[in-house]
Amino acid sequence: MTQLQQVKKAVAFINKKTKNFKPEIALITGSGLAGSVPPLEKKVVISYAAIPGFLQSTVPGHSGNLIFGTYKGRKLMIMQGRFHYYEGHPMKDLAVSVRTMFMLGVQKLIVSAAVGSLDMKLKPGSLCVLNDHINFMCNNPLIGNHDPAFGPMFFDLSEAYDKKMRKTALDACKKLKINAGEGVYLAATGPNFETPAEIRAFKKLGATVVGMSVVPEVLVARQCGILVLGLAWVSNMGCGIAKEPLSHAQTIRETKKIEGKFKDLLEAILPKL
Ligand code: HPA
Repeated sequence: MTQLQQVKKAVAFINKKTKNFKPEIALITGSGLAGSVPPLEKKVVISYAAIPGFLQSTVPGHSGNLIFGTYKGRKLMIMQGRFHYYEGHPMKDLAVSVRTMFMLGVQKLIVSAAVGSLDMKLKPGSLCVLNDHINFMCNNPLIGNHDPAFGPMFFDLSEAYDKKMRKTALDACKKLKINAGEGVYLAATGPNFETPAEIRAFKKLGATVVGMSVVPEVLVARQCGILVLGLAWVSNMGCGIAKEPLSHAQTIRETKKIEGKFKDLLEAILPKL
C-alpha cells in the first residue's frame, strides 16, 4: 500500500466517526502536555489503535487519541500523543499523521514539545516560540516518500514557522505573564539526552532549545502548505548546564507544572489564529 492509500484509509475511517467534521487547526501535544487541551464542544475522541493505517504511541506520558471538536468557533483536531523516531518507527511513517491532518482539511498546525534549554533567559517553565530549526536527526520523513498529492518535492523553508502566529503567541504570553522568547529548535534523535559536549556544540551551531521531535512533523506540514506554530516548553536546562542528571520523569514532572499555563495560552490564541 502506498502512503497515499494508507492516509486515505485513515481519513475515510475518521470522516465516518466524525460525520465529516472539517478541522481547520491541529495541535500536537508533547510529553506531559496532553492535559492542556481546552474544553471542546461536539467532542469526538478516536483512539489511534482504532484507526487503520495509523501508528501507535509507545512512550509513557503520551496518550494515543485523536480529539475533534470546536473551541470558540474554531474547529480543532488534537493529536494527544505523538510518534517519535526513537521509538523505532521508520522515518517515513512519521509523515502519516500530519498527511492525515492535511487531507482532513487542516490549514494550521500547532506543535508543542518539552525541550532542554541552552539559553539562560529561558529557564524551566519558560516558553520558546520557535522561529527556525536545525535538523540534526540526519534523516527526513520525506525521503523516498514523495507523492504530489502532498505537495512539491522541493519546497522553501525560509519561514518554516509562521511569523504572524509567532507574534500572536508572544503577545499572549506577555498578557498571561508567561516568560517567553523566540528561538531555534535543534532536533536530535534521542532517546538518550545529550552529552555536555553535544550541548556546547549545539549552542555554537545556533540552537536555543533541543528536543527529540517537532522537526519531522514540521517538514511534512510545510511540504503540504500547512502553516506552523512551534511552542517548546522548557522542562530542563541542557545537559551540563543543568546541575542535576536529566530524566524522563523530570520532563514529565516539569511539564505537569506547565500544563495549566499552556491551556491558558491555547485558550488565548486559538480564537486569534
Ligand atoms: N534534550 C532533548 N530532549 C528533551 C530534553 C533535553 O534536554 N528535555 C526534554 N526533551
